This record gives sequence, structure tokens and C-alpha cells, in this order.
Amino acid sequence: MAKTVRKLLCLLLIMLMICGTFSGCGQKPADEPAVEAEQTAEVTPEDKEESSDEPVTYTIDNIRDYVVGVEEPMELSDGTMRPLINFDNAATTPPLKPVMDAVDREMNMYGSIGRGFSQKSNHSTDLYNDTREVVLDFVGADPNIYTCFYVNTTTDGLNKLASALVESEDDLVLATRIEHHANDLPWRERCNVIYAEVDEQGRIIYEDIERLLTQNEGKVKYVCVTAASNVTGYVTDVHRVAKMAHEHGAKIIVDGAQIVAHRQFSMKGETPEEDIDFFVFSAHKMYSPYGGGAVIGPWEILNEHMPEFYGGGIVNIVRDYKQSYKYAPDSYEAGSPNYAGVVGLGEAIRVLQEIGFDDIEAHEKVLIHKLVDGLKDMPNIILYGDTDNLEDRVGVVTFNFTDLNSFVLARTLAENFGVATRRGAFCAHPYVWRLMGISDDEAEGFENCVDVNTPGMIRISFGIYNTEEEVDEFLAMLSDAIDAANYSLQFYSQAVPEY
Ligand SMILES: Cc1ncc(COP(=O)(O)O)c(C=O)c1O
Repeated sequence: MAKTVRKLLCLLLIMLMICGTFSGCGQKPADEPAVEAEQTAEVTPEDKEESSDEPVTYTIDNIRDYVVGVEEPMELSDGTMRPLINFDNAATTPPLKPVMDAVDREMNMYGSIGRGFSQKSNHSTDLYNDTREVVLDFVGADPNIYTCFYVNTTTDGLNKLASALVESEDDLVLATRIEHHANDLPWRERCNVIYAEVDEQGRIIYEDIERLLTQNEGKVKYVCVTAASNVTGYVTDVHRVAKMAHEHGAKIIVDGAQIVAHRQFSMKGETPEEDIDFFVFSAHKMYSPYGGGAVIGPWEILNEHMPEFYGGGIVNIVRDYKQSYKYAPDSYEAGSPNYAGVVGLGEAIRVLQEIGFDDIEAHEKVLIHKLVDGLKDMPNIILYGDTDNLEDRVGVVTFNFTDLNSFVLARTLAENFGVATRRGAFCAHPYVWRLMGISDDEAEGFENCVDVNTPGMIRISFGIYNTEEEVDEFLAMLSDAIDAANYSLQFYSQAVPEY
């Protein structure tokens, strides 16, 4: 019986093979020449990358071809389709193709990290740990002094740091009025925070940091400052702040969320007093949207503390009523690691370094100058921050029109014109209120700062792949967008016209 079944199966197989050699019967063999239309099809960067053994060298001139989704058509309010002009890169950046490829590749070798017995597990564990060196090197941190632990976002990292470092409600932290909420609230909720002010143009007043450190001599434990503002793009002289902090016995914590994809950052100052103690950043703001990010800090200090974040992976031993914990970085990474986040982070760093931060900075300068020059010519424009000297700004520009609701304009830009911006107070309320001239008392009335009836600005933030043509196109359509927004204001009964 079994023999008969085998014979029948063999016969069937032979028939299928014969049938496959005739056209129209079965699939075309892989090595058969493609039809002419396929042969003459345009070669995309993806094809080039796949067909060539030569690895691609990423540059500021070719990187747009390797940013995923830039050409994806979106439906506008009139039913037409067009790719977005994405000017919302400070919020998050689209993925880079090499980053996605690296993550995809690594999924074939994904195994449990730090706790499995298999080749895959060993591979994943090694890559996960080796990427720490890539991160340390990225920010010029000496591995003998610093380690890094992985986090999901900058917010996650700053909360873990605050949770680990703050020892009492009486601790004193110095922040500034330029900070994103992520570098303010984790401290504010745990201890006392004093704030250095910003000047009329929104730059940090360094003398105010010095004044507060002197007034509270020896009491300030940490000075928390952003490396670049998400509202004005101002780049902070963090090494100057580090020197001041150290002279007064404090450590410095730098929020790096807005610097890592824009400027070369180094923990090292010109002298040891100018060195940065802690640096925090997220991978999703540098073209790797898998979660992931890192906190870099000194072994010595991280080993003295632990965040209030407990679970597996951080213990030496747990007994019935006693437990002992590992040292950093493990003690800061409870739970299963985010492998895709770490792989993506490592590859994003590699690609950005290959493009080169000098070229990234130069490209961004061209874009911001073009945009600011164009906006300055618009009637009734309010531009925030210093627009005469753009040297200390990354590619972030915020604006309003004196007689137009910014919520309605931002929405019109997106829905009618396919331009993605952000509108609101950008999770930096005290800073935005200062720039807009809204007092703290007035701000009390704005419970929810995302609506049409609350104050806000429009923000344009550039990525490495934005082009001068996009800026030109945006400037050319802006007057029409203003007209369209003014027209649609009639449908927003609560809209406050002036912002
Ligand atoms: C300056 C700054 N700090 C912190 C954050 C928070 O980053 P994440 O959303 O990755 O936690 C942001 C996000 O926009 C930011 O711009």
C-alpha cells in the first residue's frame, strides 16, 4: 500500500516538473529573463543597494534616498495625493533604510539577552553589550570613567536618573527656563528645583546660573540643562555650565534629545572641569524609531545609586526577605532588553557619523537661513528667538502671525497643503509662555495647551533629508495657506484669533 502511494507521488512530481518547463504552466523559473518592461524599469536606491556588493556610503547629498516614507503620497483635503513636506523632525524622525535593514537582519539572530544558552542568545548578548562602546565613542566618553545604560526615550532616561540620584525631598537641583518638561518635572516631582532665567530672545542667562549657584553655595547637587532647545533650537554652551557647576560642587546632567541628530556632541570639555557628567538621548530623534536611547554617566556615581525600577536582570540573588543587586549598567536595566532599539541606535549612530556632523550642520544652516529670510518678509510675522544671529541654533524655527490662530494655520498647512509642522507649546510651557509674553498668572487659564483656544506657536524643525526646494515650496504656498486658514476660522467658534 505504502509502495503504491510512493509511486503515485513520484509520478505526480515528474508531471509537475514537465509541466513547469512549458510557458503558461506554473511559475517562471527564477533565472528566466524578466519581461522587457521589468528590465527597463527605473533602478531605485533600494535595487542598487541590493544588487550591488558595494556598501552604500551615506552622504548629506544622497541620504534623502534612504529615508523611509518621504515619497509616500498623502491625501489632501481636495482629494489629491502628494508626499508630505515633513517639517516636524524635532518631535520624531522617520526611519533610515539602513537602520531598518540592520534591525531586520538582526532579527534572524535574535535570542534572549544575558540569560540564554544558545548561539543566538550569545550573539544578541554580545551585540547588545558591544553597542555600549559605540554609544560611548559617539559622545567621546572615556570607558574607564563612564558607562551607559539603555533607555526607551529621553524622558525614560531622565526619570530613571532622577529616581536614582535624588536622595531626599530637600535635595536642590538647578534647571533653566528653557527646559523641556522631561528635564524639569522628574526633578520637580522629587525635590526642590530653582531655575535660571532666559533673556528676551530666549537664550539662557549663564550669569543667572552662576548667581544661583553662588547664592546656594554647596547646596545644588545637580545642574540640569538641555543641549539644544526644542522650541528655538538654541545650542547651550554646556561645557561652560559644567565648569560653573563643578566649581560649586554640583554635577551636570545634559538633555541631549535635540542635539544628537544635529551636532557632534562631546562629554569632554577643554579642561576636566568642563567635562559633562551625565548625557541622555533618544534614538527615535535620530532616525531609529524602535524605542531605544541611552544615559551616559560615570561608573562611580551610577554604582552608588539605583533607580526605583525593579525586576529581573538586575539582581545577584534574591532570598526570602533579602536581595542584592548588580552594579551599573545592569542595575539600571530591569526587565527584558529592547534589542531592536539597541540595534537601531547603533546603526543610526554609524550612519550619522558616516554622513558627518560638519556636513549635517552646514546643510541645516542653509535651510534655516533660507527659511528665516523668507519668513522675515511675511507681513505680521512674529519670529521667536534671535533671527539675526542664527549661529547658535539647530534647525528649529518657531513663529506666529499677529492676527491668525496658529492651530488653524497648522491644520490648514497639513490638510490642504501637505506640510507637517507642530503647533502648541511643545512640552516646554514655561519657556513658550516667556517667549510669547504670557505671564504665569495668565497661563493658569490654559489647562490644555493643544487646542484651538489655547496659545501656541508653529514649529518647523528640519531633518538631514529636508531640501532647499521644500523650503522654497513652503514659502511660496504660505500666503495661500494663510488665506485658507483665515477662511476656515469661521468654522472654529472658540478660536482665539491672535495666536
Ligand atoms: C529637548 C527635549 N528633551 C526631551 C524630550 C523628550 O524626548 P522623548 O520623547 O524621546 O522622551 C524632547 C522631545 O521632544 C525634547 O525635545
